[in-house]
Amino acid sequence: MADGFSLSDALSGAGNTNPNAPPNQGWPGGPWGNQPAGPGAYPGAPGAYPGAPGAYPGAPGAYPGAPGAYPGAPGAYPGAPPAPGQPPSGPGAPPTAPQFGPGFGSVPQPGGPTAPLRVPFDLPLQTGLVPRFLITIVGTVNPNPKRFSLDFKKGQDIAFHFNPRFSEETRPVIVCNSMIQNNWGKEERTAPRFPFEVGKPFKIHILCETDHFKVAVNDAHLLQFNYRLKNLNEITTLSIGGDISLTSVTPAMI
Ligand code: GAL
Repeated sequence: MADGFSLSDALSGAGNTNPNAPPNQGWPGGPWGNQPAGPGAYPGAPGAYPGAPGAYPGAPGAYPGAPGAYPGAPGAYPGAPPAPGQPPSGPGAPPTAPQFGPGFGSVPQPGGPTAPLRVPFDLPLQTGLVPRFLITIVGTVNPNPKRFSLDFKKGQDIAFHFNPRFSEETRPVIVCNSMIQNNWGKEERTAPRFPFEVGKPFKIHILCETDHFKVAVNDAHLLQFNYRLKNLNEITTLSIGGDISLTSVTPAMI
């Protein structure tokens, strides 16, 4: 765990320990990538719901301005369906903001506010992805894990498959790929390190940039994956599966 790293550091590439990587590894120098504006542009976004950020160590107080710092209630995304028992949220959504279905990971769970989300878990992204979309996934690796995966999907196609494998050949590896019309593409195994540990909590940030996904784990940049499916707005589901328990899945715009 990279204590002392802020999300800003992660998004700016600090903490990248790959000595062969170019400076910043393509992360723009700004505190939130190359994107203007910051949190606060999204009042009422996730953060104040039970079981979400704040329920795990190190976050989100560690992230100035990151998701979790927003006041607001579940479902209170402008333009999103209201949370059960909540009045509809007001106007004012950024025009490009994706809308998230009521199934996102911040809904209170039947077993209580901090109950893990059920895995496999699907998050509908009703209006698809867009640059500046940031998703934060918090979970814990199971004992004796083989693998887990995050899949950003367009129908049955997988635009981005992020797949940590704990027991691949001789050492753990992160495999990234896409699957189009049932055919896997060329695997990318470029992650300079394997940041997941058996039985340990983790936090993954995935940020949509204009031409690639950026992935940071435990506040440190890990890798990026160029878009192969270009129509981001058609990527309307995030599926999470494998040998983890899931604490929260939090979409936001930055
Ligand atoms: C395959 C595996 C898939 C997926 C793919 C990625 O071997 O069965 O689940 O991980 O590799 O390239």
